[in-house]
Amino acid sequence: MVFPFLTHKNKFVIVNSQTKIRSLEGKEEDKMEKYAEQTIQLYEGWEEFYAKPIDEKIEFFTLKGRLFDIIFAQQFDRQFLDYLCKLAEMIRIMGKTKMGHEKLRHLLPHKRAMLYFVQPSTRTYLSFQNACYILGLSVSEIRGTATSSEVKGESPEDTIRTFASYVDLIIARHSEAGFAEKTSWVLNQTERPVPVLNGGSGPDQHPTQALLDIYTLEREFRNTGGLDGKKIAMVGDLKRGRTVRSLSYLMKNYKDVELYYVAPEVFKMKDDIKEFLSRQNIPYHETEDFESVMPLVDAIYMTRIQNEYSEDPRTESETYPAFHFKKEHLSRIHAHCAILHPLPRRYEIEVAVDKDPRAAYWRQERNGMWIRAALIAYVFHAEQEILEEFS
Ligand code: MLT
Repeated sequence: MVFPFLTHKNKFVIVNSQTKIRSLEGKEEDKMEKYAEQTIQLYEGWEEFYAKPIDEKIEFFTLKGRLFDIIFAQQFDRQFLDYLCKLAEMIRIMGKTKMGHEKLRHLLPHKRAMLYFVQPSTRTYLSFQNACYILGLSVSEIRGTATSSEVKGESPEDTIRTFASYVDLIIARHSEAGFAEKTSWVLNQTERPVPVLNGGSGPDQHPTQALLDIYTLEREFRNTGGLDGKKIAMVGDLKRGRTVRSLSYLMKNYKDVELYYVAPEVFKMKDDIKEFLSRQNIPYHETEDFESVMPLVDAIYMTRIQNEYSEDPRTESETYPAFHFKKEHLSRIHAHCAILHPLPRRYEIEVAVDKDPRAAYWRQERNGMWIRAALIAYVFHAEQEILEEFS
């Protein structure tokens, strides 16, 4: 990563955060400079709040009966999911014509969004950014803590509070679990709370990815009765993959779904999710035998190994080929089986699979833009004009 930095001799330099400092004149210097360690302030009441069961916290992120901050997948019920998918479909249709596009663009030109993405992102970032453009919002961005005052030691909470002074919506991605939750908890107690959308918080949650996954599954199953009654396999690093965790939570909203968790022993789905499924009476199976599951399911959700959270370097180089979907597997799956992947992919899906109509992952990433636009329209109560277009 490259970012501007001011060093001694008052020269403006480019810093490569991984290795060395390189001046604009091309000279390399050995040490990385940082003004101060990050400030960690005590927020009274936060630890107690964080420890509460999620069901007890949802109300805190709700305002006048509507979702205000989007922090957990558990905030979404069936009515909301169906509504948002419908809204996304409408925005998608409107976005295809010049007239529809113009109407959308005039919905929220008076609103500003902050994209605070300090963990790498391609799709979530771009789809949120373009969702904002579709609805006419203007966008500011910070894509690394090294380019914000955090490098001077400012706490992330103060940094986020600063955004709230300038914008009306904060979309945040961070490598720490609970980050979005804490920032919205802090903001909701200030004079200027603005909604926070969780664009991925460490290995725990990615609720808007779950929204686009649901939208994708509903679209892929539109000729086979929708998501109710379907069998879904989730494959790969289920232990640290936040997408499969958030999507699993959403299964409580669908009738008669059945899950197959297919993972190497070291990356099995964590107990908290399995306990949640048991409480909700959602049947799930666990196996390492991917090929045996292929003919049984209506959708296969592939994931990559999440090395960034690795505690054991031995897992770094292993690619787990037994958990890859290859061209030869296409003949083993149902004619209607949808293949999904939140992307980025490495070797989990052979590129030769891309041409098969059941490969839904490229459609899936585009769906993210429409459903995120629907979510932003919802957050700002701007849906009425969209609904009226179709009444
Ligand atoms: C994520 O942000 O979790 C991605 O979309 C999936 C991944 O990184 O593997």
